[in-house]
Amino acid sequence: MNSIKPPQVIVIASGKGGTGKSTLSINLSMALTELGKRVTLLDANLELPSIATLLNISPTYTLTDLIEGRCSIHEVIHCGPRGINFILGSTLPKPITNLGPAHHFGIVNAFNAIAEEMDILIVDTAPGINKSVFNFIRASQDILLVTRSEPTAIASTNALLNALHLDYNLQNFKILVNMTSNRYEGRAVFEKLLKMNMHMTDLFLNYAGYVLESTSARSAAIKGQALFSLYPKSEFAQDIRRLALTINRWPIRNTPTGDIEFFVESLIRNT
Ligand SMILES: Nc1ncnc2c1ncn2[C@@H]1O[C@H](COP(=O)(O)OP(=O)(O)OP(=O)(O)O)[C@@H](O)[C@H]1O
Ligand SMILES: [Mg+2]
Repeated sequence: MNSIKPPQVIVIASGKGGTGKSTLSINLSMALTELGKRVTLLDANLELPSIATLLNISPTYTLTDLIEGRCSIHEVIHCGPRGINFILGSTLPKPITNLGPAHHFGIVNAFNAIAEEMDILIVDTAPGINKSVFNFIRASQDILLVTRSEPTAIASTNALLNALHLDYNLQNFKILVNMTSNRYEGRAVFEKLLKMNMHMTDLFLNYAGYVLESTSARSAAIKGQALFSLYPKSEFAQDIRRLALTINRWPIRNTPTGDIEFFVESLIRNT
C-alpha cells in the first residue's frame, strides 16, 4: 500500500468568467507558500490558459508536452516567484487517442512521484461547467467557488453549485467573494446563496471569506507580476493571507491514497 500522504487538491471554479480565479490562484499559492506549504499551481483552464501571461512567463514545457511525452514531469514544473511551482496549461489535443497504456501509466506514475514533493495542489479552471472542468472538480478534495457580488455573478454561482449538486451529487462547497467594496459585502453575498439553497438539506456551503477590490490589480497585471509579491503589505495581500489561513484550517479529508492517480486520470480523460 502507498504510504505517501496525498496532497490536498483545491480546485478554484466559478459560474461566470472573470471573477478572479487565476489572479487568486497565483496570489493564494504565494500566501500558502509563505505559511510553509509546498504548493504547486496547475493551470487547468485548457480553453484559455492564463497563468503564464499573468506572470509574464514564456512557456517552455506545458501540459501537452508532458502528455505527448516531450518532457518529464520535473521539466513541466516551473519554479515561479515566491517559491511557488506551477504547471502551465495548454490547449490539449483532442481527443488523445494515441495514448498507449504504458504511456498512460507513465504519466500517472510521474504525478504520483511528485505528489511527495507537494502539500497542496491548486487547480485553476475555466469558468462554467464543461466536461473538463467537471472532471477537475470531481477529482479535488476542496471546491472553492469564486464569485463577485453582482446579482448575475451570484446567479451563475448558484447555477453552478446546483448543477454540481443535483447532476453530480457533490455536496460541499466553499464560497469566496472577490472584488468586494467592503468587508461586509462578502458575508451578505454568502447569506444570499445560503437562502437560495435553504431547501437543500444535503448541500453544505461554507464561507471562505472576501477579497476587496484592489486598485492596483491593473498595474500589477500590466507589469506581469502578482499583487502579493508586488505589494506584500497591501490590503489585498492581507486578504489573501487571511484566505490562506482559512484554508490551512480546513479539515484534511482522509481520502484514500491514490487520490492523485484519480486526479491525473481525470486530467488525461478530459482531453
Ligand atoms: N481583488 C481584485 N481586485 C481588483 N481586480 C481584480 C481582483 N481580482 C481579480 N481582478 C481583476 O479581474 C480581472 C479578471 O481576473 P482573472 O483573469 O483572474 O479572472 P478569471 O476568473 O481567472 O477569468 P477567466 O474566467 O476568464 O479565467 C483581471 O483584470 C484581474 O486583474
Ligand atoms: Mg482564469
